[in-house]
Amino acid sequence: MNLPYAEPYKIKMVEAIKRSTKNQRLQWIKEANYNLFNLTSDQVFIDLLTDSGTGAMSDHQWAEMMIGDESYAGSSSYFKLKNTVQRLTGFTYFLPTHQGRAAENVLFSALVKAGDVVPGNSHFDTTKGHIEFRQAKAIDCTIDEAFDTSNLHPFKGNVNLNKLETVFKTYPKETIPFCIVTITCNSSGGQPVAMENIKAVSALCKKYGILLIFDSARFAENAYFIKKREAAYRNKTIKEIAKEFFSYGDGMTMSSKKDGLVNMGGFIALNDEEIYKKATTFNIMFEGFITYGGMNGRDMGALAVGLDEATEFDYLESRVEQVAYLGQKLVEYGVPVQKPFGGHAIFLDANKFVPNIPREEYRAQALAIELYIVGGIRGVEIGTILADRDPKTRQNRYPDLELVRLAIPRRVYSNNHMEYVAVALKNIYETRQEAKHGYKIIEEAPIMRHFTVKLEKI
Ligand code: F0G
Repeated sequence: MNLPYAEPYKIKMVEAIKRSTKNQRLQWIKEANYNLFNLTSDQVFIDLLTDSGTGAMSDHQWAEMMIGDESYAGSSSYFKLKNTVQRLTGFTYFLPTHQGRAAENVLFSALVKAGDVVPGNSHFDTTKGHIEFRQAKAIDCTIDEAFDTSNLHPFKGNVNLNKLETVFKTYPKETIPFCIVTITCNSSGGQPVAMENIKAVSALCKKYGILLIFDSARFAENAYFIKKREAAYRNKTIKEIAKEFFSYGDGMTMSSKKDGLVNMGGFIALNDEEIYKKATTFNIMFEGFITYGGMNGRDMGALAVGLDEATEFDYLESRVEQVAYLGQKLVEYGVPVQKPFGGHAIFLDANKFVPNIPREEYRAQALAIELYIVGGIRGVEIGTILADRDPKTRQNRYPDLELVRLAIPRRVYSNNHMEYVAVALKNIYETRQEAKHGYKIIEEAPIMRHFTVKLEKI
């Protein structure tokens, strides 16, 4: 019998989480206008809303917090972080930002203008938001296999090269500031992009003179999948693999709240000095001076350590295999989930789970709410509400997939917690025929409405 993937760490400190009753949760979710973002954390038992900024830091990271250098300019913590980023990514220039979307804001301020198009693989919502906010357009070039939740393609984050080349041929070069490849691809289910695909995208970008930028929030998990699934990389280390894929691009934005193993932070790394100079001006305006960019010195130190820990195989194996453990349990219970399992999350396929709830009644949101009511578990809708309205027609955009994401925080929950989640879903699945109606929107913001939307039960 194979030994299981036990965590390569033990627990030194614990944090209590609160149980509640179903009646309490029915009341709380109503008061929250059926928006899971409006719940207070103590109303949630197992919080799978996001894997972003919710991970547990190590003793070495906490030790680094104590020796953080809070100097406004030239902090030693900044240099620690810069050296680590340069060593791990190979990029020359580095700018810290307070989180990933801030990195997008700074870099896109330097590169994106009205009327531009930005092709990529299922842009994350803040990425799309920052593109559309500048009256530019995000064009999704993800492979079609990604939209079939039962297709077992090993790299469902891949870019379809024909779709990408069509964009390059259709739009003038001056209107394509860059191509953005998200590793792993969050919006298509935490699915990885193959090294082979990254190489091919890079070659195509070079052919047409277009920059290639990585949205790198979960780059270490992407490297893990390459090691496991691409034969040529079986014997390479995670750090070697990451450095290789970054070598095919011109820069990266990073949300350090994921594979940086910290609670807050982000950065930009680049090869081009001119772009770096332009971005620097925006960084100073929006984020802070270039040697802190919205981050505390101690947080930069903890991030430097976190990036090294997150790119170690043993950590990644227990991390990604814990996500798969939950996925496997759900498969055993017959619950429809996206396959292969993502690196940071399991995605429930609401189109298959609750097909009786009309799409106009936000079936994925309805399922997420039910999971909260039944188990005190908070997931998040990745479906029609998240997709926002079309900026021109203001009609709902119905994405191909209606998903509920169960994102697993890093180094936080045990497999018993995963078991609890799986059983709650099994119970919901067994009574799914009873679910016929969902919710209607009573209030929404014009962009990124999912955070503040108010809903009413139909
Ligand atoms: N890019 C990707 C792929 C992301 O998943 C996120 C955030 C960002 C950029 C933005 O980074 O939050 O630091 O500003 N994803 C979180 C999530 C919010 O829950 O998936 P941020």
